[in-house]
Amino acid sequence: MKILIVGGNGTIGSKVSSHFSKKHEVIVAGRNSGDVIVDMADSASVKALFEKVGPVDAVVCTAGEAKWADFDSMTEDDFYIGIKSKLMGQVNLVQIGKDHMNPGGSFTLSTGILADHPVLMTTSAAMVNGGIHSFVKAVCLELKNNIRINVVSSGLVEDAIEHYGAYFPGHNPIPMTKVVNGFVKSVEGAGTGKIIRMYDNC
Ligand SMILES: NC(=O)c1ccc[n+]([C@@H]2O[C@H](COP(=O)([O-])OP(=O)(O)OC[C@H]3O[C@@H](n4cnc5c(N)ncnc54)[C@H](OP(=O)(O)O)[C@@H]3O)[C@@H](O)[C@H]2O)c1
Repeated sequence: MKILIVGGNGTIGSKVSSHFSKKHEVIVAGRNSGDVIVDMADSASVKALFEKVGPVDAVVCTAGEAKWADFDSMTEDDFYIGIKSKLMGQVNLVQIGKDHMNPGGSFTLSTGILADHPVLMTTSAAMVNGGIHSFVKAVCLELKNNIRINVVSSGLVEDAIEHYGAYFPGHNPIPMTKVVNGFVKSVEGAGTGKIIRMYDNC
């Protein structure tokens, strides 16, 4: 398969990219590094990405940002960071990418545990994660040519404990191999419209 991985040089993306590289042709896209540069929050940049890369069998997104801050301090613009990047960035990949996807191909998006189990300072991140879950459940009904779409929702991953561990008291970090398996299940499995939750039922 020819697999485009947006955010493929990040904490999760680098593990996902190196796994898929063993069996598939992987193209890494990122904002500042990768085989192709893209800002998924900008639809013109996403169009240019697909024109450059050509038809693909799978698009995996392990990118997307949202502002973390106390609700009292969040401005309207702060909320738009997550809406433009993590939410609309991933919607852009699907809406533009579907016309560059080979029949039977798949999209795999990324959210996280905050959609179901938010922690402090995550009103924006939790909100966009929930929005993506609903988007996936709805858009799977309309994708043509047997194109599938799923989303991997992971808990705090082991490789990010140093940076984010303090925000997740009592959470069990998720081994990187488990997270990678969520993406494998989506790309190489047959399911569609699934929220692949990679965390304990806490
Ligand atoms: N870390 C965790 O524990 C965890 C758990 C669950 C869910 N998640 C979610 O999983 C995703 C990846 O997390 P991560 O920890 O791997 O993040 P990360 O280490 O910050 O990596 C993100 C990658 O995405 C790229 N990127 C960011 N914004 C982009 C944009 N607008 N267009 C194109 N590429 C962009 C970055 O490229 P540059 O570096 O070049 O900007 C980077 O390579 C995020 O949505 C995060 O919320 C993370």
